[in-house]
Amino acid sequence: MSNGKIIIAPSLLSADFKRLEQEISLVEKAGAEWLHLDIMDGHFVPNLTIGPSVVAFLRPATKLFFDAHLMVTDPEKYAQPFVEAGAQSISFHVEAVNGAKTKPLIDKIHALGAKVGLTINPDTPAEQVKPWLSEIDLVLVMSVFPGFAGQKFMPEVLSKVRQIRQWAGPDFDIEIDGGITTANVREAVDAGANVVVAGTAVFRAADPAEAIRQLKRIA
Ligand code: DX5
Ligand code: ZN
Repeated sequence: MSNGKIIIAPSLLSADFKRLEQEISLVEKAGAEWLHLDIMDGHFVPNLTIGPSVVAFLRPATKLFFDAHLMVTDPEKYAQPFVEAGAQSISFHVEAVNGAKTKPLIDKIHALGAKVGLTINPDTPAEQVKPWLSEIDLVLVMSVFPGFAGQKFMPEVLSKVRQIRQWAGPDFDIEIDGGITTANVREAVDAGANVVVAGTAVFRAADPAEAIRQLKRIA
């Protein structure tokens, strides 16, 4: 998907929601490639965000790749509505879907025409994604506990990034999400991440476009 280059995926969660179209256009012009959409159900995590109808409204406003991160208890129910709304990748949590249901959900999302990611929380071992690496398109490694933007990066997850990179080889997307700033993006990339989510560090920066350029430079 990424052909070896580093992809910056601003997380819309930290944007100014009264001007979403301008916020998206700003990060697109600044060189972001993906838009990270944090979908929370108030159950899997103690926070609620956006549903498919918001995604559908945003779809025609941009060419950015829509990277949906489902922090929901029931991704089987929500994957399809988000793909139909325009999400091009669906990442769901291994903590939400048990072993036997994993493969059917991967196949379902692929059949809908989207990429599939498996997501692991900071305290979930990398071994949980290992059996699925040949079936999926990306692994999303959480570097904070999901639920809120603006938390502190947990460097201890980088050993999992290294491990997954070793298992998956160079042509696989490993995305890191949570607390990324110009101070830690380099260590995340050195560990093997090639897709970098940044919410606060981009949308709450004095100059979001410059923040993206800096993240790219340092990464
Ligand atoms: C956390 C979300 C992240 C987060 C990123 O639950 O999955 O995408 O919003 O925001 P920052 O970069 O502020 O940690
Ligand atoms: Zn996220």
